Amino acid sequence: MVAKILDGKQIAQDYRQKLKEEVESLKEQGFTPKLSVILVGNDGASQSYVNSKKKAAEKLGMISEIVHLDESTSEEEVLNELKRLNEDDSVSGILVQVPLPKQVSEQKIIESINPDKDVDGFHPTNIGKLYIDEQTFVPCTPLGIMELLNHADIDIEGKEAVIIGRSHIVGQPIYKLLLQKNATVTIMHSKTKDMQSHLKNADIIVSAVGQPGIVSKDDVKEGAVVIDVGNTPDENGKLKGDVDYDDVKEIAGAITPVPGGVGPMTITMVLNNTLLAEKMRRGIK
Ligand code: GUN
Repeated sequence: MVAKILDGKQIAQDYRQKLKEEVESLKEQGFTPKLSVILVGNDGASQSYVNSKKKAAEKLGMISEIVHLDESTSEEEVLNELKRLNEDDSVSGILVQVPLPKQVSEQKIIESINPDKDVDGFHPTNIGKLYIDEQTFVPCTPLGIMELLNHADIDIEGKEAVIIGRSHIVGQPIYKLLLQKNATVTIMHSKTKDMQSHLKNADIIVSAVGQPGIVSKDDVKEGAVVIDVGNTPDENGKLKGDVDYDDVKEIAGAITPVPGGVGPMTITMVLNNTLLAEKMRRGIK
């Protein structure tokens, strides 16, 4: 079996076209969605992500700004910026890029975002709503993965899904989303014994640990769906996924490439959630 390639780049492009039409319609009603991003410090990868989000938002006709603060900014100053954006009526959605410098508590900052503007879905209120199946902002990478599966008509109900990595950004929310679709879900992590037997039994694998090669051909059941969230730069700066793509695609049923799989979907869902934030506060369905 040669896997169906889940072309995130193309799927994201089609999805963004639909969002663009919705943005145009909102603007005709006098409402322009605005995404404000706080970036603290000079981490190269973070800068590049944030610039991509801003560019993508502007391409859809949204307004976007990056509030770029110095690496040495105090927690109090970040909180002040956040308070300003929380209160600014022109701002629909706020995102604070993580990681943050060590003097700034990530949890404190996330808990200070207005939950109605929390387009990352990281605030405890929004996490809680996700866990009790209430409509809310869902973290963008897991939401993008669900859209990839949905687009490819992949059946989830009753399937064995295995996730590698238990982060709050990917592993735990994708666990909940797959469970909502009636999969039987296992999360694996650094203390898991016998990862291979879990993987071999999986119909759906989501790997999100940033360890190139952690999923190899021998681990994967024939026909399994393999979603690769890894994006680790190699010595030449080329991005590597967690999965041995060239080998695994020979036996998987479907697979995401890196780059061009999950990544473009994450950014698309930031845009999706910014539009949702604007619609929610205007009472538009
Ligand atoms: N850093 C890595 N991924 C993300 C993300 O999805 N949102 C934010 N805010 N920071 C990140």
